[in-house]
Amino acid sequence: MNRPPIALVTGASRGLGREVARRLAELGYHVLAGVRDPAGTAPIPGAELLPLDVANAASIEAAAEHVKRTHGHLDALVNNAGILLDRMGDVLALDADTLLRTLETNSLGPLRMAQACAPLMPQGGRIVNVSSGGGQLSEPATWAPAYCISKTTLNAITVQLAEALKPRGIAVNAVCPGWVRTDLGGPDAPRSLQQGADSILWLLLHAGPDLTGGFWRDGQRIPW
Ligand SMILES: NC(=O)c1ccc[n+]([C@@H]2O[C@H](COP(=O)([O-])OP(=O)(O)OC[C@H]3O[C@@H](n4cnc5c(N)ncnc54)[C@H](OP(=O)(O)O)[C@@H]3O)[C@@H](O)[C@H]2O)c1
Repeated sequence: MNRPPIALVTGASRGLGREVARRLAELGYHVLAGVRDPAGTAPIPGAELLPLDVANAASIEAAAEHVKRTHGHLDALVNNAGILLDRMGDVLALDADTLLRTLETNSLGPLRMAQACAPLMPQGGRIVNVSSGGGQLSEPATWAPAYCISKTTLNAITVQLAEALKPRGIAVNAVCPGWVRTDLGGPDAPRSLQQGADSILWLLLHAGPDLTGGFWRDGQRIPW
């Protein structure tokens, strides 16, 4: 009997993570929807809510242990959880606490998730890091310095992980969903949840398994 692929999506309580989890479940994946507050999260049809705070190392370890114990392996990890604390910030006035908190969730969180989950992944496993055009060094963005720095850092982590996991046949890529109408993106964003989720899902559903170490939007490579 063919078992469904198992995918873990972080930050699945709302926004893009919830939409990605919902769509993967609809497509027949066994979805582990990582949320900080399972009791306060509306069920996602076909998905299992998994308590997970990516800013907490013990929470990440517990989630990985749950995956190992209950499922034995993991086919896909979508590092989606993210925060934007410094809208319209000024890097010259950026306080260390805002930067550290942003890095802890947006950069260190995905790294810790990959460290905990990669041992559970077979050849053909995929890690998708949800980054942002705000992290591109080739097109400097200054509107939210802590957020943009955290996404540049996530891109660097993506390249490091891709090289480290290449010998095991595990693909690691970064993706920009575009500017999407969510709590984080705000109501003026031009893209729907579906369009943003499509950009993320392309790496799981359509990209070749050998495609690794890249930065993508809508299935097209974009510069770092
Ligand atoms: N929307 C855009 O225009 C846009 C553009 C580029 C990139 N992105 C990226 O896309 C990803 C999703 O963003 P979104 O727009 O969907 O944002 P959102 O609607 O604000 O949702 C953010 C999600 O992240 C979760 N989260 C935050 N901190 C967490 C933590 N420590 N542990 C676990 N979960 C945590 C939130 O959970 P709670 O409900 O518990 O707070 C929520 O589920 C982020 O990485 C963001 O940077 C978004």
